[in-house]
Amino acid sequence: MISHPLVAIALLPFTLAARQPDGGVVHAPIVRRSHSNRVANLPKAVEALRKKYGYPVTNVKSANSKRAITAAIPITDEENDTSYSGVVSIGTPPQNFNLVLDTGSSDLWVATTSCTSCGSDIPEFDPSKSSTYKATSSHLEIDYGSGSVQGTIAQDSVTFGSFEMSQELLAVTNIASGLIDDGLSGIMGLGFASISALQTTPFWEALYNANDLSEPLFSFYLERYVNQANQISAAPGGVLTLGGTNSSLYSGSIEYLNLTGPPSYWLLTVSSVTVQGKTISIDPPSGLAAIDTGTTLIGAPTPIAASIWAQVPGSTELTGNWQGLYAFPCDTNVTVHISFGGTNWAISPLDMNLGTLNNTMISNANTTSQMCAGGIFDIGIGSTPAWIVGDTFLKNVYSVFRASPAAVGFAQLASGLSSSTGSSDPNTVQVTGLTPLPTSTCASSSGNGSSTSGSTSSGSQSSNKNIALSLTLLASVAGCFTLFF
Ligand SMILES: *[C@@H]1O[C@H](CO)[C@@H](O)[C@H](O)[C@H]1NC(C)=O
Ligand SMILES: *[C@@H]1O[C@H](CO)[C@@H](O)[C@H](O)[C@H]1NC(C)=O
Ligand SMILES: *[C@@H]1O[C@H](CO)[C@@H](O)[C@H](O)[C@H]1NC(C)=O
Ligand SMILES: *[C@@H]1O[C@H](CO)[C@@H](O)[C@H](O)[C@H]1NC(C)=O
Ligand SMILES: *[C@@H]1O[C@H](CO)[C@@H](O)[C@H](O)[C@H]1NC(C)=O
Ligand SMILES: *[C@@H]1O[C@H](CO)[C@@H](O)[C@H](O)[C@H]1NC(C)=O
Ligand SMILES: *[C@@H]1O[C@H](CO)[C@@H](O)[C@H](O)[C@H]1NC(C)=O
Repeated sequence: MISHPLVAIALLPFTLAARQPDGGVVHAPIVRRSHSNRVANLPKAVEALRKKYGYPVTNVKSANSKRAITAAIPITDEENDTSYSGVVSIGTPPQNFNLVLDTGSSDLWVATTSCTSCGSDIPEFDPSKSSTYKATSSHLEIDYGSGSVQGTIAQDSVTFGSFEMSQELLAVTNIASGLIDDGLSGIMGLGFASISALQTTPFWEALYNANDLSEPLFSFYLERYVNQANQISAAPGGVLTLGGTNSSLYSGSIEYLNLTGPPSYWLLTVSSVTVQGKTISIDPPSGLAAIDTGTTLIGAPTPIAASIWAQVPGSTELTGNWQGLYAFPCDTNVTVHISFGGTNWAISPLDMNLGTLNNTMISNANTTSQMCAGGIFDIGIGSTPAWIVGDTFLKNVYSVFRASPAAVGFAQLASGLSSSTGSSDPNTVQVTGLTPLPTSTCASSSGNGSSTSGSTSSGSQSSNKNIALSLTLLASVAGCFTLFF
């Protein structure tokens, strides 16, 4: 999941000036230019805001301060690799939930029993059964583009892996349908504090700040199920190692790449892409990419997505609700390599194939071949980050998110771990059953609310090119925060 770092900046003057109930709404699209100097100043501004309104300046109360440790946390693969979750316990006594593990956002939220729109398949946290739950009088809405959550800013004891601390979170009372899959209850943000809508330090970063982690990093092995004949809605799906790496999950060495710019998302720069062995010209060359476990697919800038699919004979861009996605003949093995300045990492054709499409969805369908949906979509142009590199890529590598020195590392998976290079093996992903694009996305409503939201907008949001957010569910491409007090 991805949301926008600048939004918090836009919100700061607004929240200082207007703190009356429902005093206004600030919408800001993800598709805007970043100003790194402002991002760099964000933590200081947030801290000042916290002091002004009496929030605790730091919320780290680790129960494990005696020794730094490493925790291996099992991951669940949800809905054929749509998202990856882990068990997080909230409250005293602890209530357990499956939360999406999301390096593309920095907030923790959980559906609560006060949520009437959450649906019976979303397990809910009951604050009244927690002796350590402390609600504030502040409410927050986080809009992920494909849907939003609203709730109360609260604090409670949170346990993840073997770590426990008091953590600020959003106790959600309203959730847009389809935002998370059944069985899930919320999101655990694994980005940096500077993009937290709650303006708080994320769980992992608080552990890091308190020196509770053996190593200043966490690592993912994400399993692949998309090619399995009998997919199920949830399956064992990998390992998150908090505070370390697990050498039995990768081979060779980990190649670290320094983050591009100050910590916000986990940002790298795409330096090269090849498709079917042919190199694609990367223009602009400095395409920032958010490395995002919370996004299902890979979003590429418009011209690059077009160049990529131009290398695949018979491929075509989809239209209407599916605009931004590409279809290609299912019997083609699409092999993409991507580099962020080091190794050219191969993406398995298995991950490039999301399943068969009904050819009536394709206006210029090549009726002689069954068409499949591709794992790289057109996210639009003019946005920062320009790319969103999600699980379609991350399933192919062991990935390490390192706070200091700030870097993302990749290594070859150990043999036998989802490293199959088999055929594209198309399955019947229920593409037609997915939620259509919401009529009003955050991006399309950027004119709403206070003028602060539009002031730094590049205005280059390319219509609803980020349509694929509806396909990718949590993969939410667009994102914005709406804050109201
Ligand atoms: C590393 O991963 C392997 C395979 O999942 C597991 O058996 C082992 O316990 C892990 N080691 C650590 C230290 O987490
Ligand atoms: C997962 O795959 C199975 C079998 O192909 C299919 O029935 C199911 O609808 C898929 N689920 C999703 C969410 O695509
Ligand atoms: C990466 O960052 C480290 C620490 O800031 C620095 O020493 C190193 O030179 C950087 N590497 C590259 C390739 O820029
Ligand atoms: C239709 O698909 C077949 C098989 O992939 C391919 O050989 C043919 O060139 C395609 N025709 C057009 C018009 O794209
Ligand atoms: C394809 O979609 C059309 C229109 O929605 C529908 O009538 C047809 O039955 C579908 N075909 C298949 C094979 O699902
Ligand atoms: C795709 O890859 C599989 C496995 O390597 C191979 O069996 C199949 O022939 C390939 N298909 C094409 C069209 O190259
Ligand atoms: C935008 O503002 C208009 C007028 O205030 C309102 O009717 C509409 O619902 C808003 N749209 C969104 C997406 O907030």
